Amino acid sequence: MKDLLCLGVETSCDETAAAVLRQDGHLLGSVVASQIDLHEAFGGVVPEVAARRHLERIGPVVREALEQAGADYGDIGLVAVTRGPGLAGALMVGLSWAKAFAFARHVPLIGVNHVVAHAHAAYLEAEPSYPDLALVASGGHTDLLLLEGPTKVRVLGRSRDDAAGESFDKVARSLGLGYPGGPAIERIAGGGDPARAPLPRVGMFQGSLDFSFSGLKTAAQALRRQGLAPEDIAAAFQAAVFDQLWERAALALRQTGCSRLIFAGGVSANGYLRRRLDTALRREGRSLLVPPMDHTTDNAAMIARLGLTMYEAGLESAWDMGAEPVIHPFKP
Ligand code: KG4
Ligand code: ZN
Repeated sequence: MKDLLCLGVETSCDETAAAVLRQDGHLLGSVVASQIDLHEAFGGVVPEVAARRHLERIGPVVREALEQAGADYGDIGLVAVTRGPGLAGALMVGLSWAKAFAFARHVPLIGVNHVVAHAHAAYLEAEPSYPDLALVASGGHTDLLLLEGPTKVRVLGRSRDDAAGESFDKVARSLGLGYPGGPAIERIAGGGDPARAPLPRVGMFQGSLDFSFSGLKTAAQALRRQGLAPEDIAAAFQAAVFDQLWERAALALRQTGCSRLIFAGGVSANGYLRRRLDTALRREGRSLLVPPMDHTTDNAAMIARLGLTMYEAGLESAWDMGAEPVIHPFKP
């Protein structure tokens, strides 16, 4: 019987999240309390403000997830929590809460890598097929990962400067759009013409699958200063982001022989990028696997998913596990 209940806890950035995932793969509850309104005025996330809000929200958010699941504290058999990467103070709130809960309830604790968990969000509704190639594009990271097994991850490429989501946010800001910028850019890009806003393409770094988004961001901001229309810049920016993502992903697919691409992280909520990736992959006889739309941005279901997988592979974390704002090289 695979009826163990895993409680997932996520507080790495500006969402306080909890989820209850049953070992058989059924997601029984998933709650995300966003702090977007709190940080909007600053145009980005303020770390200390985020940590304080996590502290206020974590208890009620867990209770709500348990209510959705029809479960009680005593029903939880495993706790999975984000240990990094993320904001130190924010991570510490979730980690301390999870440790205290697991210790008091005598249940095992698993610390989870947030970026790898984004990739595993795709396994909430599909079976793994190792080795799987994952492109995780979020506000903090843009990584090409080779998931070689349940707990084995290889980094094939990563951004050398801004993350893809971060560049969406910064371009949106210069276009006078709100935070987060990704959805705002996607919204106006539909009415724009990319041909009216020429943006450079970012060539491959020799012998590497690394990304770079800061030059693209600066070029888009320069077009705005020249007076070009925001919707044309937004459309051109999305197209240039797609070209870069696909050029690297296509090469990685050929190098690894993988037959599908997992596209995950907040940026994978973008319908335009999903559609273009899907078309490009089909043309090559390959397929696209994305997480459920409501589990592309930060959530705790992905933390529980990876935590359960690691637990089943025999892993467990020590009580003195610390928050790891920067985890490099990748530990799952
Ligand atoms: O994964 P996530 O929630 O947090 C991090 O781990 O960073 O990703 C947040 C990022 C933000 O930069 C946001 O602008 C971007 O994901 N994002 C999008 C879209 N929705 C969210 N980017 C492009 N298009 C979207 N529709
Ligand atoms: Zn994230």
